[in-house]
Amino acid sequence: MKVVRKVNEMSKISSSLITKGFVLGLVPTMGYLHEGHLSLVRLAKSQCQKLIMSIFVNPTQFGPREDFKKYPRDFGGDSSKAIKEGVDYIFLPTDEEMYGTDYRTIVEVSKLSSIMCGRTRPGHFKGVCTVVLKLFNIVKPNRAYFGQKDYQQVVVIKKMAGDLNLPVDIVSCPIVREKDGLALSSRNKYLSTEERKSAAALYRQLNLASEMIDKGERDLGKIEKIITGNLKKVKHIKKVDYFNLRDPVSLKELKHAGSSGQKILAATAVWIGGTRLIDNIIIEIK
Ligand code: PAJ
Repeated sequence: MKVVRKVNEMSKISSSLITKGFVLGLVPTMGYLHEGHLSLVRLAKSQCQKLIMSIFVNPTQFGPREDFKKYPRDFGGDSSKAIKEGVDYIFLPTDEEMYGTDYRTIVEVSKLSSIMCGRTRPGHFKGVCTVVLKLFNIVKPNRAYFGQKDYQQVVVIKKMAGDLNLPVDIVSCPIVREKDGLALSSRNKYLSTEERKSAAALYRQLNLASEMIDKGERDLGKIEKIITGNLKKVKHIKKVDYFNLRDPVSLKELKHAGSSGQKILAATAVWIGGTRLIDNIIIEIK
């Protein structure tokens, strides 16, 4: 495995791999790798001939009061995991290398970026889209892999790729969870033992919403209210940013459940102590 720190070098390596006819896969990450990230790598490995993983804690997607500085970093651990999984290249640029000193251009997917996580994290998806488009332009992958853990992120990136005619397939991958259902996240490291116990409530409440629909409840506004109320009562949950039931493709809010076969996205973001956690499931009406 080779570690590439310079944009020009990464770009040249990719161009030469493309000339040789390899199918390139890209797994963009911010590092501190866990099984969620590695599941993306494994799928990418099975579908591509050369695999590039980027590790870059992207400053432009963090708000001024967010955790950019304290975001966990462990390049030693990350690189041994990447070697074990058969990653061919790690692209590891510095902030300076990615953005220089006079960076001006941003990419915005309107509307989709200002709902859900975008409401409480204004500017977040602009930062994500900008860095992802830059990574696509540098690496020129045939396929890029993203986790459904960040469901809205995948929808926004797919929209950007479609709107801008980007020649890349966006592949979305299932959520990897702990035994008690908590979705794996680099931010779980911030949780105290007690907070960690409370964090399992997210997945439980998402499933409760699903059960309510299974039992015939069709008023989604009512379910939103009940589940939001339940989440607010969980010990250590300081704030519920949102619990929403939405169309999984358009992300439009749904007020009523329809007929069998319809899919509904149940998504939530809550603060447990000083840590913001997100999770979601797709509910299919029976
Ligand atoms: P990061 O949070 O490091 O996540 C990198 C990728 O791993 C994302 O596509 C994310 O959805 C996926 N992932 C994280 N936890 C997962 C889990 N439990 N199961 C499955 N997939 C999981 O998301 C980002 O970085 C950044 O926004 C990035 C796309 C790299 C742009 O900076």
